[in-house]
Amino acid sequence: MFDPTVTFADLEWLRELWPHRLVVKGVQSTTDARDVVAAGADAVVLSNHGGRQLDRAPTPLKLLPRVVDELQGRAEILLDTGILSGADIIAAVANGASGCLIGRAFLYGLMAGGERGVDRAVEILSSEITRTMQLLGVSRISDLTPEHVTLPA
Ligand SMILES: Cc1cc2nc3c(=O)[nH]c(=O)nc-3n(C[C@H](O)[C@H](O)[C@H](O)COP(=O)(O)O)c2cc1C
Repeated sequence: MFDPTVTFADLEWLRELWPHRLVVKGVQSTTDARDVVAAGADAVVLSNHGGRQLDRAPTPLKLLPRVVDELQGRAEILLDTGILSGADIIAAVANGASGCLIGRAFLYGLMAGGERGVDRAVEILSSEITRTMQLLGVSRISDLTPEHVTLPA
């Protein structure tokens, strides 16, 4: 958005300069996921940046199964946007994300109680993960599968 001249060639250039893990955030389609990984990314973050600017931007959780299918394990997939509960994290991980990023959920904790508020937000998310897994009857994260989740149409 800030520099419309940026292309995948710039990502390849960054890949050459940066010898460590390269993670690209903001992927919103299967083709972009494919091209970002072809340009050398180690991981993609499916994200519409919280959906704060563009109404009807793709919902990362809905996009996730198709990106998993597209990448076939060639890169790690993280999910960002709309994580407001531990159950949301479970839904993402069960569908193939290796983890989630959270924006507003920790900011709400920060606003309510500073550092302690952020700790509390993490505690709440963590206890919701445990409770959701108990309700599902699943004791290991690695045992979660897409069958444990009904995605919105
Ligand atoms: C106040 C605020 C400012 C943000 N600024 C940026 C930004 O400059 N660049 C960016 O890529 N994402 C930005 N984001 C998006 C976050 O990095 C993240 O993708 C988003 O908050 C995740 O969604 P969630 O809030 O539903 O968890 C911003 C989010 C918030 C709440």
